[in-house]
Order: sequence, then structure tokens, then C-alpha cells
Amino acid sequence: MKKCNPQMTGALVLLAACLTAPVSAAVEDTVSVKTMADALHLVMDSDRTVYTRLIVNRLAAQEKVIKASEHFKDDKALVLPAQMFRFGAEMVAKRSEKLPDVNFSYSLQSMWPVNKQNAPKTQAEKEGLKYVADNKGENYYTTETLGGQKYFTAVYADTGVAPVCVACHNAHPDSPRKDFKIGDVMGGVVIRIPLKS
Ligand code: HEC
Repeated sequence: MKKCNPQMTGALVLLAACLTAPVSAAVEDTVSVKTMADALHLVMDSDRTVYTRLIVNRLAAQEKVIKASEHFKDDKALVLPAQMFRFGAEMVAKRSEKLPDVNFSYSLQSMWPVNKQNAPKTQAEKEGLKYVADNKGENYYTTETLGGQKYFTAVYADTGVAPVCVACHNAHPDSPRKDFKIGDVMGGVVIRIPLKS
């Protein structure tokens, strides 16, 4: 049985439950897999927007202090927002190996990828990316079985929230799409959580 950690729950209601029940039971009672995916996405998307607006857009586009470049080491530049996101996803994958209860993966993809590696691969990814691009403001949820394992898969729109998003993609030689406007859906975040079958 795990020790109760009220700091993890953060809410008084949960604290009461926490005093009487093991943490695992409290969590199972209160958080669905969809809620967990939505919460993870909220954190990812907020961090991504803050990095883009307060670091990349401000320092590279407005104040012209430093550039953002995919070759950030050679160019002594800021890492791109998509690289920032991927480095986080890679670190999560590595750290969660040691946490069997915390098992999920995520990636940033697009139907119009600058990097072909970021194109959707599974049927759910393809349908989800198309759905969030066609239905602005809506998310896409499904289940899929990959390699014998069942997953809950959620896809969320990734939107051009700052002028730099649109400017850089439209100007990039490898971008298959050059007519992005601010506020357009430019791709999507895919979150995948394994389910007990
Ligand atoms: C300075 C250039 C630049 C800026 C600014 C930028 N991107 Fe990108 N973006 C790229 C590059 C280059 C890649 C491919 C990175 C990789 O190798 O995975 C990429 C990847 C992506 C992807 C994954 C699919 C793909 O195209 O490979 C999405 C979605 C995306 N960016 C959306 C955005 C959004 C939304 C913003 C603003 C919040 C943004 N980008 C800002 C250059 C940029």
C-alpha cells in the first residue's frame, strides 16, 4: 500500500478521502483516462505557448536578441518550440521506464510536416489529425490496439498561437504548406495511454 501524500492531491475534498483510503484508490475513483489525457495536454500546451510567446516570439521576432534555429548548437540559437516539446517527450519516455504506474507517450505531429518523421502513422493518428483540423475547438478520442496492446489515444489541435509559428513554417523550405495564418490548426498533439484489456 502506498503512503498517502496529500500534497499530490491538492484539493481539500481529496485530502479527506486521502486520510481514509490509499492514494491509488482515491485516484482510481476520481480520474478517468480521458481526464488524465486532458490534464496532461493542458500542461503541455500551456508550457508550449509560454515558451513560444515569452521566449521565441519576444526574443527572436520582436526584440531580435537571438535567433531560433533547428541547428541551435551550431548557430548558438534558441531551440525551436517543436524541439523543446520533443526533448520533453523523450525525457518523459526515459524517466517513466522506472515508473510502471506512470505509462504514457506523446508526440507533436502534422498532416503538413516540416519533418517527415512527424507525419501521422497509425489510422487513429491520421483520423485524429484530420478531425481536429476540420473541427476547430474539438478534440479527438479513440482506442486502438498496437502490437497486441490496447491504448486510449487522444488528439488535440496544435494552433499557430504566435506570428513566429506561421512565419517560420511558411518560409521553411521543407514545409509542404506555405499558407498558414495565425490561429490556424497547424498540427496536433497525440497522447497515448495503455489500457488494461
Ligand atoms: C523558427 C522556426 C519555427 C518556429 C518559430 C515554429 N516552428 Fe514548428 N517546426 C519547425 C521545424 C523546423 C519543425 C520540425 C522539427 C523536427 O525536426 O521535429 C517544426 C515542427 C512542428 C510541428 C510538427 C510537424 C512538423 O511540421 O514537423 C508542428 C505541429 C509545429 N511545428 C507547429 C508549430 C507551432 C504551432 C508553432 C508556434 C507555437 C511553431 N511550430 C513554431 C519550425 C518552427
